[in-house]
Amino acid sequence: MGAVQWKKMALRLNGKSIPFEGWPLHTTLLDYLRETGLTGSKEGCAEGECGACTVLLVGPSESGSRYVPVNSCLILLALLDGQEVYTVEALAENGVPCEAQQAMIQFGGSQCGYCTPGFVVSMFAEQYRPGRVGACDPHALSGNLCRCTGYRPIRDAALSLGPAPEGKWTRRLLEPAPAAAGVATLAEFFALRQANPRAKVIAGGTDVVVECNLKGKRFPALINVGAIGELRSVEETNAQVEIGAALTLSEIERTWRNAPVVFAEWFQLFASPLIRNRATLGGNLATASPIGDAAPLLLAFDAQLRLVSARGERVVALDTFFTGYRQTVLAEDELIASVILPKPFPEHIRFFKAAKRRLDDISTVAAAIAMNLDQRGRANQVRIAYGGVAAVPLRARAAEARLEGRHWEQGMREAVQELERTLSPLSDHRGSAEYRLAMAENFLAKFWHEMEIPA
Ligand SMILES: Cc1cc2nc3c(=O)[nH]c(=O)nc-3n(C[C@H](O)[C@H](O)[C@H](O)COP(=O)(O)OP(=O)(O)OC[C@H]3O[C@@H](n4cnc5c(N)ncnc54)[C@H](O)[C@@H]3O)c2cc1C
Ligand code: FES
Ligand code: FES
Repeated sequence: MGAVQWKKMALRLNGKSIPFEGWPLHTTLLDYLRETGLTGSKEGCAEGECGACTVLLVGPSESGSRYVPVNSCLILLALLDGQEVYTVEALAENGVPCEAQQAMIQFGGSQCGYCTPGFVVSMFAEQYRPGRVGACDPHALSGNLCRCTGYRPIRDAALSLGPAPEGKWTRRLLEPAPAAAGVATLAEFFALRQANPRAKVIAGGTDVVVECNLKGKRFPALINVGAIGELRSVEETNAQVEIGAALTLSEIERTWRNAPVVFAEWFQLFASPLIRNRATLGGNLATASPIGDAAPLLLAFDAQLRLVSARGERVVALDTFFTGYRQTVLAEDELIASVILPKPFPEHIRFFKAAKRRLDDISTVAAAIAMNLDQRGRANQVRIAYGGVAAVPLRARAAEARLEGRHWEQGMREAVQELERTLSPLSDHRGSAEYRLAMAENFLAKFWHEMEIPA
C-alpha cells in the first residue's frame, strides 16, 4: 500500500480547509471520515449498494454550484485534493436539525437509524437541487436502502419538503464550485502515463474502488482522468453526437438536453443517482463487463469509440471493441476519449433490463433494439444488441438479418430461432442460461408490442 507522495493536499471539509497527507493510497473518503471522528457516515456494504455512507461534494451548475450526493466508500481520499465535501454532521446548524432531518423525525422515517444519515444527505441534496420545481423527486433516494423502517415514511418525508430555505446553504450554491481534481489535459495525461506505465487509470472509481475494497486490489499509482477537459463535453453536429468519456452519467443527462428519449429510460435503470453522479461512460466500456449497460444501448446506435494515446488517435466501431471476457482492443497506453453516435438516429429504439431489483441493480440481461420502418411497415437498419447473453456484449446479427427488409410477422419466428441458435448464455448466481435466453427473446417481443407498430 503506497503512501500518496505527489504533493501536499487539502480538502475543504464541512467548511474548513483540512490538509491531508501520508494516508495510504487506497484510503477511501469514508474510512478517512470515520478515522478522524466523523462517524455520522456509516459503512453498510463498502461497494456502493446501500447509501449509508452518502456525503455531498460541491460540483458545478449553470447558476454556480450544486450539492452532489455520492458514496464516500467509493471515493479515494487522494482524488479529492481541493474538493469541497459536506458530511451529515454539517447539516444541523447550532443544534437545529435541517429540514430533511426534521421531516424524517416528523414522518417516522427512522428506526435503527443506520441508513438515516445517508437518506438525510440525499434528501438534502434533492431539496437544494438547482432548478427544482415542484416536490422533491423520491427517485433521488433510490441509492439509499433501509432494512427496517420501510420506504413509505421516508418517501413522505421527502415529499413534504418545500423550496430550499434561504441561508448559508443556498448562498453557497451561488458561488462557483472548486475545479475538478485530477489531470487537466490529454498532454498532461500522456506525460504522466509515460512516466508511470504501471499506474491504474481511474475516472469515477465505481468499479475500481469496489475492487480495492472487496478484493483488496492495490495499485502502485493512480491517474485520475475524470477532469481531462478534452474528455468532458457533448458535441452535436448534423452528422453525429460525440460524448466525452469522462463525463459522469448525471452530467450527460443534464448537458445533452435533446438526447433521444431512450437515454432517459436508460439513465433511470443504471445503478442509482449516487453511482450515476460518479460513473463515466469510458469507465463502463473499459471494464468490458458482459453485463455493463452502456454497451447494448450504444451498439444499437451503431456507436464508435475515439481512442487516444501519445501515438495518435483512432476510431473503432464499438462492435469490434470487445474481444473476449473483459478484454478489449484498448492498448495499455490508450484512453477512450469519446463515444460517437452517428446520425440519423434510429426512428424506433428501446432499452430493456432484467435485474433482481428494478432500480439500483446490475443487469442479468439487457437489450437495446433499434429499427426504422418504411411506409409499407418493413423493418430496415435493424439492430438487436444484448448484454448478459455471452462473454461480451454483442449484436445478434443473424436475428437482425431475419427481420431486415421484412414485416414483423414474416421475420419474428425466424429471428427467435436465430437467437436460440446463436446465443449461448452462461448460468450464474444472477440467472440461468435458460432464463437469459428466454429474456432475450421476450425483450424482442416486448419491443414490438410496446412500439405499437402496425402489423
Ligand atoms: C452499486 C453499483 C451499481 C452499479 N450498477 C451498474 C449498472 O446498473 N449498470 C452498469 O452498467 N454498471 C453498473 N455499475 C458499474 C459501474 O458503476 C460502471 O461500470 C461505471 O460506468 C464505471 O465508470 P467509472 O468512471 O466509475 O469507472 P472506474 O471505476 O473509474 O474505471 C473502470 C475501469 O475503466 C478504466 N477507465 C476509466 N476511464 C477510462 C477511459 N476514459 N479510458 C480507458 N479506460 C478507462 C479504468 O482503468 C478501470 O479499469 C455499478 C457499480 C456499483 C458499485
Ligand atoms: S457503505 Fe454502502 S454504499 Fe457505501
Ligand atoms: S432505519 Fe434501520 S436500516 Fe433504515
